[in-house]
This record gives sequence, structure tokens and C-alpha cells, in this order.
Amino acid sequence: MKPEFTSDFAGREAEITRLCTDSFTVSDSVEEGRLVGQLARDLMQSTPRDDVIMWAALENSKVIGCVFFSRLRFDEDGRAVFLMAPVAVKTEHQNIGIGQKLIARGLENLRQRDVDFVLTYGDPNYYIKTSFQPISADMASPPMGLRMPFGWLGQPLSPKNNWPLVGPSHCVAALQKAELW
Ligand SMILES: CC(C)(COP(=O)(O)OP(=O)(O)OC[C@H]1O[C@@H](n2cnc3c(N)ncnc32)[C@H](O)[C@@H]1OP(=O)(O)O)[C@@H](O)C(=O)NCCC(=O)NCCS
Repeated sequence: MKPEFTSDFAGREAEITRLCTDSFTVSDSVEEGRLVGQLARDLMQSTPRDDVIMWAALENSKVIGCVFFSRLRFDEDGRAVFLMAPVAVKTEHQNIGIGQKLIARGLENLRQRDVDFVLTYGDPNYYIKTSFQPISADMASPPMGLRMPFGWLGQPLSPKNNWPLVGPSHCVAALQKAELW
């Protein structure tokens, strides 16, 4: 199947929030679903527009997957960094490549925008498929304390970008919740 992609979430906020809630409820728990749904909503509704990018995969105009990128600021490093979270694919469309295609589309777009690094926090066994590698706090300081430091991942978006990212980091307000980390 060849999904279409869009980065326009206007008018699709409720559909995208529901997808994130449902997908994480099934894969994890009702509480996690609620938390991630709220995160998606906050990213769309209350994050400065310049600090958030969303890509959705569409089938027959319905959203079947989404990925969010939000700005991560490092106090002593002027390079452009985005954090990828959350990533969610509708339960009945999982395991047919939608997640990897969405992430690839998002990364290609970040390169076009001259973003230097992308980081994420999740399952290394999955994200390694789209070139993320485990990183340490010395390579890039996480914005909040991590319960699972092995899930701290990143990649430079061009070979000229060298680790480390310098200084403490700050995520957008939507992500400033200890229970997300
Ligand atoms: C994780 C998720 C985004 C992957 O998207 P997807 O479209 O289903 O995955 P793809 O089809 O791109 O990739 C499938 C491959 O990834 C693997 N995979 C899927 N989810 C995985 C996970 N959580 N951990 C490790 N591997 C995973 C599959 O086993 C499969 O491996 P194979 O190609 O070697 O057989 C999707 O399953 C999802 O929304 N899950 C619920 C929410 C979630 O857990 N989000 C990510 C949190 S870290």
C-alpha cells in the first residue's frame, strides 16, 4: 500500500489525537494512551507553530499514522535540533511499513529545513531501522530525567554534524512532564 503524506494537521486534530490515544492504549495501557493523546493535542494546539512539525500518513483521506517533531534547544549550541515523539500507527495498519515510511518522510523534510540533529526516546530495536543510534547524556543532555536511558537515541542529519550537542537542553512545554520520560 502506498499512503499519501501530509504535514497539515489543521482540522485533523481530533482524529490525530484519537489515533495516538487508541494506538498507545492497545500497545501499552489506558493511562499511556491518555498521556500520549494529550501530548499530541498539546503539540498541535499550544506549541509555537515554528517549534512543531507533524507528518500524517493518509489512506482514503483518513489518518492511519502520524509522527511529531518538536524543537529541542541546547543552551550552548546554536545548531537546530528536533525531538521525534510521538510516533503512532493505527493498530490495524501496523507492521506493513507505515511507521518507517512516515519517519523517513519526516527526516527528509528536516534535512530540507537544514535541521542538524534529530533525537528520540523509545525502543532502540525499532528506531535503529531508521538510522537512530543509542546516545549518551554526554553526547546530548536529555531535557528531563530518563527512566530508561537506553531509549535515548539520535542521529546527525548530515555527516558534517559532530557530537556532542553542548549544554543543557530544553523541550517544548507539551513535553515537560516527568511521566513522559
Ligand atoms: C511502533 C510503531 C510506530 C511501528 O510502526 P509500524 O508501521 O507498525 O512498523 P513498521 O511496519 O514500520 O515496522 C515493522 C517492524 O518493526 C518492528 N516493530 C514494530 N514495533 C516495534 C517496537 N515497539 N519495538 C521493536 N520493534 C518493533 C516489527 O516487529 C517489524 O519488524 P520486522 O520488519 O523486522 O518484521 C507502531 O507499531 C505503533 O504505533 N505502535 C504503538 C505505539 C508505539 O509503541 N509507538 C512507539 C513508541 S517507542
